[in-house]
Amino acid sequence: MRQVTISEKLSLSAIVQGFWRLADWKWSADELVDFMNACIERGITTFDTAEIYADTLCESLMGEAFKRDQSIRKRIELVSKTGIFRQEINNGQFTYYDTTYDKIKTSCKESLKRLNTDYLDLYLIHREDPCLNPWETARALKDLKKEGLIREAGVSNFDPFKFDAMNQAMDHELVTNQLEWNPLCFEHFNSGMIDYMTVNKIHPMIWSPLAGGKLFDSKDLIFRKVMKKIQEIADRHDTEPAAIVYAWIIYHPVGALPISGSNKLKRLDLAIRGLDIKLDHYEWYEIYTASGQQVLR
Ligand SMILES: NC(=O)c1ccc[n+]([C@@H]2O[C@H](COP(=O)([O-])OP(=O)(O)OC[C@H]3O[C@@H](n4cnc5c(N)ncnc54)[C@H](OP(=O)(O)O)[C@@H]3O)[C@@H](O)[C@H]2O)c1
Repeated sequence: MRQVTISEKLSLSAIVQGFWRLADWKWSADELVDFMNACIERGITTFDTAEIYADTLCESLMGEAFKRDQSIRKRIELVSKTGIFRQEINNGQFTYYDTTYDKIKTSCKESLKRLNTDYLDLYLIHREDPCLNPWETARALKDLKKEGLIREAGVSNFDPFKFDAMNQAMDHELVTNQLEWNPLCFEHFNSGMIDYMTVNKIHPMIWSPLAGGKLFDSKDLIFRKVMKKIQEIADRHDTEPAAIVYAWIIYHPVGALPISGSNKLKRLDLAIRGLDIKLDHYEWYEIYTASGQQVLR
């Protein structure tokens, strides 16, 4: 498996395994250990999670697996995220963002405890906080780096303006922006974020590359139309549609790292297969325009 250098200190596997849906999988710790080891055997050594996933349960389940097989943590790059919180108000849950210094510092230490680890390889600010003070948030991330609690820092779902603000405050030390991108999601093309990252040589990590599975099971007409085109290209290459989508994301000069969210190894293998598929240049545009959302001028 190819490793992608995202900073002087850190390389990530070209395909990342995501654990957002882990709590739904209802696995025992042993089953999770087996899955993690199978990922590592395939060279998928970068694991992505977040404090907010299943209200901290995903981090705890991963921490349990790291305790059960202590060799795993040493063989992976662990990514987690902070900045989204839930508060009980009037018997309801209210979700909000907090990227203030104390909150980030405390949140990181709590994540480390749940994950049974001393450090994170990469720590991300999960979402754009409209109340963000880049200087304050950057101070928290820099202090966490100095204390050895995180090796590198990045953000997720940031537009070019917020990314630039944070990166200036971080003395240009941000190593990624984790973004949604799939054949039905072009937000970050349209905002200019993908261009920004390409010119600055910063590798984005890509979430929901398969539109969270909707590419395969949505009855929505637009999904069926896009899938028809992807299937046609897959037939040309004698492969599966999922592998084509991964190949399409990897083709772009920005150097993206897709995050697979499936709990099935055979589907992870399709992501890996995507690394070896050479799309024709025109095929990239066939997928880019398939949904009708992107029009070439
Ligand atoms: N930064 C952020 O804001 C953010 C947001 C969301 C996610 N993420 C990260 O990105 C990771 C990936 O996101 P994702 O889970 O949405 O990715 P995804 O790979 O697009 O979607 C995974 C889902 O698609 C299903 N699927 C895959 N192949 C399928 C097929 N051939 N037929 C039917 N269903 C299929 C999977 O089901 P099976 O498990 O049954 O295969 C799973 O439910 C997450 O785990 C998380 O780490 C980050």
